[in-house]
Amino acid sequence: MSTGTILAIAIPVIVVLGAVVAFVSLSRRDATGLGHLSRETRRRDELAAAAAGEAAAGDDAGAFGVSSQARELERSVALERRPAPVAVDEPELPQDWAPPPPNEVGVTRRQFLNRSSVILMATGLGTFNAAMIAFLWPRPTRGFGSKVKIGTIASVDEAIASSTPAANFSYFSEAQSYIQPYPTDSATQSNAEATYGGVVLEGIRLGYVALWQKCPHLGCKVPVCGSSQWFECPCHGSKYNRVGEKKSGPAPRGMDRFPVTIEEGNVYVDTGSVSQGPAIGTDTTGQGLEGPHCA
Ligand code: FES
Repeated sequence: MSTGTILAIAIPVIVVLGAVVAFVSLSRRDATGLGHLSRETRRRDELAAAAAGEAAAGDDAGAFGVSSQARELERSVALERRPAPVAVDEPELPQDWAPPPPNEVGVTRRQFLNRSSVILMATGLGTFNAAMIAFLWPRPTRGFGSKVKIGTIASVDEAIASSTPAANFSYFSEAQSYIQPYPTDSATQSNAEATYGGVVLEGIRLGYVALWQKCPHLGCKVPVCGSSQWFECPCHGSKYNRVGEKKSGPAPRGMDRFPVTIEEGNVYVDTGSVSQGPAIGTDTTGQGLEGPHCA
């Protein structure tokens, strides 16, 4: 075998062996790190690491114990400071409403409304019927409420002149009225013409005025006062002049009056037709106070 042939075979073999050795060396170095420690060294390192781990575990256990004790202390202090719980009654739950049985209810709403309607209708009809009956009821033909004949002109004038306790104040009980002479002088008559009207004025023109005894304030019978020559109500002190015009007191107007007529020489007072007295301030006769009051 020639030298060239030997070299041709040896060189590739050497190159291949070198490559294998280099590969194996690099592989072991990757597996064991940069350095390669001996077994004793690794054993010593492992013991040191175990001792260091136990020391660290001991420290953690101590720190954990301290922090848990602190938390326990904080918790106990917070519990002591917490106010004592207040006892609260359990709220009662609302009960479902159920209508009471009909036998326990005196009157149901329907019954109440029905009865109210019937009562109202009955009251209205009753009032209407009463008004109709009163309207159609015949007026009395005698006594108060009718046209009352109180006497002849002469007898009436005589009664007026001789009346007591004061002249010119004549009371006729059948008419519940005072028949008062009304001044016939032109000035007074002219005042009356300007103040009164209708049937009352017709009686004034005849020289009479019929004054109802009932006080227009609250209905007391108004007597005559002989000293003052006025009508003076004893109930609340209203005062009227001789022809029933209000002078003072709480009455809302002068004395109410009835029409006076003369028929065939007789004087009549129509007590079924009352006229309201004159307004406050009316003074057609100018009669002043003639003496001390009685009321
Ligand atoms: S009732 Fe006559 S003043 Fe009152």
